[in-house]
Amino acid sequence: MIIWSLLLFAASGLANIVLLGQNGPPRLKYSVVQGYFKQSNLATNDRKYDALRDSFGLADPSPHRWYRFRQNIHALNVNAPEGVRYVVLYLARHGQGYHNVAEKFFGQEAWECYWAMQGTNGTSTWGPDAKLSPQGHSEVARTSKAWISEVPYGVPLPESHHVSPLSRSLSTLVETWKPVALNPPRPVCHELLRETLSLHYGDKRSKASYLREAYPQVEFPIEEDDPLWNFHRESETGRNNRIKYVLDEILNNDLNTYIAMTSHSGVINSTLVALGHRPYAVQTAGVLPVVVKVERDPEWRGEVLWRKKEPWEVPRVEERSVCPGYEPVQVSGRYVNGMGVWPYS
Ligand SMILES: *[C@@H]1O[C@H](CO)[C@@H](O)[C@H](O)[C@H]1NC(C)=O
Ligand SMILES: *[C@@H]1O[C@H](CO)[C@@H](O)[C@H](O)[C@H]1NC(C)=O
Repeated sequence: MIIWSLLLFAASGLANIVLLGQNGPPRLKYSVVQGYFKQSNLATNDRKYDALRDSFGLADPSPHRWYRFRQNIHALNVNAPEGVRYVVLYLARHGQGYHNVAEKFFGQEAWECYWAMQGTNGTSTWGPDAKLSPQGHSEVARTSKAWISEVPYGVPLPESHHVSPLSRSLSTLVETWKPVALNPPRPVCHELLRETLSLHYGDKRSKASYLREAYPQVEFPIEEDDPLWNFHRESETGRNNRIKYVLDEILNNDLNTYIAMTSHSGVINSTLVALGHRPYAVQTAGVLPVVVKVERDPEWRGEVLWRKKEPWEVPRVEERSVCPGYEPVQVSGRYVNGMGVWPYS
């Protein structure tokens, strides 16, 4: 792969010492296969529809539903031309965390302008690494029961799990699957599957040694200290590129068909952009299944979609107010409506 990319760079006259060693995963092309899940249909109201009470949204209500579904997915794969495969992604969101409770309590403006950058108000703590609230734990228990109740109908359980490095997602994964079937497969944590990179204190992750001890079921191929938490907030463009990058990495290396990803609202939103799926607001502890056609991207010329910013590319940290009338906080870069501005972040 490395040699191939270098040849491409050299051939196109773009060989540049800076690009050495920055190979990303081969870029893939995704599209949604319509008709299997109600959520891919624009007629489904994501604010009202509760997929956990409706077989995760599977359109076929018959008792044979999941057996037929498996047969269909199998047939798609058997008949797929070379270089094309079909996967089913289960996009899971973490249960309610203390940061979600705080955002509701303070209101979105005060949250984005001040409180998100703090870790506590004295009585409640949401940072660093916001944990699940009591309500979050019971939402996850409900999701777990939804899986258990589909097992008699043959629901295909995930053959692999990929998870964010933030505790609220890790707890959600472990608590959802413990009563169903966690072992095997062993979940793998990905540094990049985390929520919008930001100065939000609740989105700063714990040390890897802490996570390994707290979640012994999960594999953590990550650095000890959080390399991505920063004083600037990622833009939507930046997040879309980052999630496309990690999605390509996962699907280039994981050849399973039924793949679960447990993460965050922002990660799921960017995943849906990458897949070409309609926008869909997944509730806390919700699950959104998507049937995806995966193929090599013929337009790809070896360019890398995302990389971690070097220290000199990040605007310097200053103490200032991010919204009129609010106390100053430590920030870097520019903001519009609480999101960073591309390409600063
Ligand atoms: C702190 O925030 C929590 C919500 O996160 C709220 O329930 C509590 O009342 C707040 N405490 C004070 C002293 O305002
Ligand atoms: C994700 O998208 C939904 C709408 O589809 C929106 O309500 C939600 O705020 C978005 N979440 C983030 C973190 O951008």
